[in-house]
Amino acid sequence: MVVDDDAQVRHSLARVIETHGLATTEAGSGTEALAILERDGEVPLVISDIYMPEMDGVTFLREALSRYPDMAIVMLTGVAEVATAVECLKLGALDYISKPVLIEEVRARVDKALEKRDLVLQNRFYQQHLESRVRELDRRNKESLINGVQTLVHALEAKDAYTSGHSARVSRYAVKTAVHLGYTGDRLEQIRLGGELHDIGKIGTREDILNKPGTLTAEEFQHIKGHAALGERILAPFMGESPSVLRIVRSHHERLDGAGFPDGLAGDAIPHEARIVSVVDAFDAMTTNRAYRPPRTPLDAVDELRRCAGTHFDAGVVEAFLRAFPDPAALLISV
Ligand SMILES: [Fe+2]
Repeated sequence: MVVDDDAQVRHSLARVIETHGLATTEAGSGTEALAILERDGEVPLVISDIYMPEMDGVTFLREALSRYPDMAIVMLTGVAEVATAVECLKLGALDYISKPVLIEEVRARVDKALEKRDLVLQNRFYQQHLESRVRELDRRNKESLINGVQTLVHALEAKDAYTSGHSARVSRYAVKTAVHLGYTGDRLEQIRLGGELHDIGKIGTREDILNKPGTLTAEEFQHIKGHAALGERILAPFMGESPSVLRIVRSHHERLDGAGFPDGLAGDAIPHEARIVSVVDAFDAMTTNRAYRPPRTPLDAVDELRRCAGTHFDAGVVEAFLRAFPDPAALLISV
């Protein structure tokens, strides 16, 4: 599109551009040009004079780019208007042509402007394409991570019949309790995953010890204790963006009084997420059948949690668990 109030200049420019094999439209002012664009839609290239009645070229440039940011606009300037032309470049014009206009120069500038526009559009396309590709890869990575995690959990449950379903229940109890403690979004998601994976290190525990019906010897107990730190080591390469998951796996056997393992942390030094999983893990362990003892009733288990709140367990977490599951007996039936 050629925009100029001087009909003669306008026509000759249009003819030169047509020799490029491009169709042209002409407008005698900025206002008319905007009206044509509004009616017929965006054009790839506009050559616009700067000084025109009604709406000057600078105002037209601003208006046109705000509505059609992909349009290439080249300004026509008189010799004395170089400063204005530079201003136009700052506003987003692609180039300027000085009057008097030379045919060869117009051809060269038109080619250059269209090339530049193509480059800008291509860049944008690649960028958008790249962004969606990265998003897709990220989604697939997360998906395969979750599949891998589920495989690990199933492998563990195949090895240790008594923990079958334990990870899923712990995860579910932990999430509901965490909601009552104000967790949301990604922090809550990490608790869900941490609950699923808290015992994953038991993959490295000897089966005869895992399923031993009697009391464990000191050495066997020591061996079992290794599952917390081992679990963290197994998951560390995959969980760089989920530090809470690693904290849960490592610290879910810590006790508030410092008598837990593997680090003997006490009080607030124990990650809060791990204190949540510790409570619900204990509840589920007490109420399900184990190799070494029959299950306790849910009410017994709740009494035990209450009794040990403040020494073994975080009292606030025990409270939140009881608020999340006010009727623990019903909870077991629903699982
Ligand atoms: Fe554990």
